[in-house]
Amino acid sequence: MKIAVIGGTGLIGSQVVRNLTAAGYEAVPHSKSTGVDVISGQGLQEATAGADVVVNLTNSPTFDEASPGFFQTSMDNLLAAAHKGGVGHFVILSIVGVDQVPELDYYRAKALQEKILAAGPIPYSIVRATQFMDFMDAVLSWTADADTVRLPATPIQPIASGDVAAAVAEVAVGAPLNGIRNIAGPEVLTLDEVGRITLAHKGDHRTVTTDPTAGMFAVVKGDVLTDTDAHLAPTRYTDWLS
Ligand SMILES: NC(=O)c1ccc[n+]([C@@H]2O[C@H](COP(=O)([O-])OP(=O)(O)OC[C@H]3O[C@@H](n4cnc5c(N)ncnc54)[C@H](OP(=O)(O)O)[C@@H]3O)[C@@H](O)[C@H]2O)c1
Repeated sequence: MKIAVIGGTGLIGSQVVRNLTAAGYEAVPHSKSTGVDVISGQGLQEATAGADVVVNLTNSPTFDEASPGFFQTSMDNLLAAAHKGGVGHFVILSIVGVDQVPELDYYRAKALQEKILAAGPIPYSIVRATQFMDFMDAVLSWTADADTVRLPATPIQPIASGDVAAAVAEVAVGAPLNGIRNIAGPEVLTLDEVGRITLAHKGDHRTVTTDPTAGMFAVVKGDVLTDTDAHLAPTRYTDWLS
């Protein structure tokens, strides 16, 4: 089975390529740095030709109002090339609860990506993951100063990127779901708790202040970013930090 991994040099993509290769599949990474551009369309026909499966793990360069345009153009280009090349399964990685947070440009962009895929001509699978543990440092940095990190008590269910990659690789070699599979970390934590755990682990003596207005996740209502009925991944946040 030949699998074209678009965005195959990124955080998740590189691990998906590694997992698939170790399992004996022919997984080929493609990205801007290998001469394939999902926006201009450069190299897409060659990248998808002869592939049984396309896994799209590209990401928008920004999370702002430009992100819907990125996912619209990239999906239009990729689906056209993959359809022409006779690809039988198209996989994307989205976000648990993505359609529940329309206030965020990036979440609207990812919901749009899902919609384009589902309306397209190719059998498909959507893997929705919760927030990556690898992303937590960045989240903390958005609302931090020299003494304090301000974070809302938004419930999240952080997942290790290695667990995400394993789940994406498993779905990629299976039959198309023509639907969604939710994957999540093993425990629900509030974002301010994640902040306290992270700073304590690093020996960082700054205080985490619970602030319902702080940062991007402040607009999230209730526990829509969690799913305790999802496929639960094994790695706990404290183990991942260690
Ligand atoms: N962060 C989270 O918590 C979270 C949760 C659920 C789902 N996701 C989703 O997971 C997916 C993968 O994220 P990631 O963190 O692995 O992304 P990443 O590390 O930023 O990697 C992005 C990849 O996309 C490629 N790329 C970007 N623009 C491109 C273009 N115009 N043409 C071709 N390739 C391009 C990059 O290639 P170059 O390096 O060569 O430019 C790189 O290989 C994203 O779609 C994201 O929405 C994220």
